[in-house]
Amino acid sequence: MSRPDTGQTPVLRLENIVKTFPGVRALDGVSFAVMPGEVHALMGENGAGKSTLMKVLGGIHQPNEGQIFVEEQATVINTPLEAKAKGIVFIHQELSLAEELSVAENIYLGELPRKSFGRVDWNKLFAETNEILGKLNVSFDAKARVGDLSIANQQMVEIARALTVDAKAVIFDEPTASLTDAEKVVLFDVIADLKSQGVGIIYISHRMEEIFKITDRISVLRDGQYSGTLTTAQTNEDEVTQLMIGRSLDLSRNVSHGELGDVALEVRGLSCGHLYQDISFEVRRGEVVGFYGLVGAGRTEIAETLFGLRDPSAGTILLDGKEVRINSPAEAIAHGISLVPEDRKGQGLVLGMNCRDNMTLPQVDDLKAGPFVAEGAEVAIFDQYRDRLDIRTPGWRQLVGNLSGGNQQKIVIGKWLSMHPNVLILDEPTRGIDVGSKSEIHNLIRDLASQGYAVIVISSEMPEVLHVSDRIIAMYHGELIRTFSSEEVTEDNLIQAISGIRSDKVA
Ligand SMILES: Nc1ncnc2c1ncn2[C@@H]1O[C@H](COP(=O)(O)OP(=O)(O)OP(=O)(O)O)[C@@H](O)[C@H]1O
Ligand SMILES: [Mg+2]
Repeated sequence: MSRPDTGQTPVLRLENIVKTFPGVRALDGVSFAVMPGEVHALMGENGAGKSTLMKVLGGIHQPNEGQIFVEEQATVINTPLEAKAKGIVFIHQELSLAEELSVAENIYLGELPRKSFGRVDWNKLFAETNEILGKLNVSFDAKARVGDLSIANQQMVEIARALTVDAKAVIFDEPTASLTDAEKVVLFDVIADLKSQGVGIIYISHRMEEIFKITDRISVLRDGQYSGTLTTAQTNEDEVTQLMIGRSLDLSRNVSHGELGDVALEVRGLSCGHLYQDISFEVRRGEVVGFYGLVGAGRTEIAETLFGLRDPSAGTILLDGKEVRINSPAEAIAHGISLVPEDRKGQGLVLGMNCRDNMTLPQVDDLKAGPFVAEGAEVAIFDQYRDRLDIRTPGWRQLVGNLSGGNQQKIVIGKWLSMHPNVLILDEPTRGIDVGSKSEIHNLIRDLASQGYAVIVISSEMPEVLHVSDRIIAMYHGELIRTFSSEEVTEDNLIQAISGIRSDKVA
């Protein structure tokens, strides 16, 4: 690849990187360069090789072929600590923190400040950590145990770690997937700051609006191959999508809204302590009800109550008109309720288990033929959902932990779909999913409704709720502010509602 002729030396340059895993050619000759002070987006479908390429840069994987240049010096990076020593900082897609340790220990892991005689200098450690945390405006301190923090705050710890190094290049692998809007603002400030110091930044995200907001150039991978670099200011979403998946997407297409059936789920006056209060709604068969609101509005907690993970403090739940008590996920499943959770790593998947077993996990008991599980039936289920959701893996034996982030999410969706639930709840179903698969998942959600499922979709992405929902419930601080039909909803009144404004202003 020819160098951009800015006269500057790239901070990082990759030449012809190849990386294979058994049965997978994850990277197939990738070359591109990152300039100082540049925010360089790396895009591509789920499984295209983005994280693998970053792990090569971060010293986690060794390439089979190819070379890495740091400021034009040919460099071999054997371990993450070596990467760090060379000024390459990597903020991971899947969090990699030690939950039992404090924030400070995580940030300085492997290089804790020491006094003479080798004792850890705790005062220095906590003071330095708190100084960095101060810049990030977070609500926890250096001594907090990482396992007690929310996922978003854990993400902030990863970001804090990047700021301790005299970095030449910082890699962000889908950093915003679980951040609130306020935290995103902080992150983008951090990125702007690094940029102004001449740091080269690689930014991976599936969210086009972010890409167009903060990046200078966009490089695209497709099936492990480099497929081009675009200048952000001179391109558009359609061109990027073309480069990623080889076609454009018609996102304006209206979804079909079929006949609605009986009420499958009704919730009356449901409350759960301070998490949410007095929530009432119903979902009919054939209907998709979207829950929209800011992170922390109480949507996930309602889903968790319906799935037996939380006890309501008041109110009733009715399924097909009959009042039910749901005390555990097993009872929820027995009542035909499925939940695709927001936190797939914690609640959705066993990373050390293969794809097929993850997918059929909740129904192993039903698949038993005599004392044995009917292997053929399990593989058939896996094959069906792999095709339907376009899951990229060499086969069912692959460990889920080896799949790309987006493909892991598809396994979770497949797992709950294969249960044929009456009520399907999807919490942030397309988080980390590429644009092509996202529209497939949206179509799938509409298909499920037209097959008679009652579907609840919780999403923080407005285009997503607007696109898939028949009705939209707007929540703010644990309260149901308003239910919109698809005819009356607009972007404006939806934004007002999730900010707590109850009705349109009187003209
Ligand atoms: N340790 C591993 N063992 C086997 N295969 C792997 C391993 N790591 C990655 N792969 C495979 O390499 C390919 C690229 O995966 P990678 O995680 O780089 O994709 P990605 O572009 O980051 O996708 P996403 O957008 O979903 O995060 C996938 O087919 C994945 O299954
Ligand atoms: Mg990835």
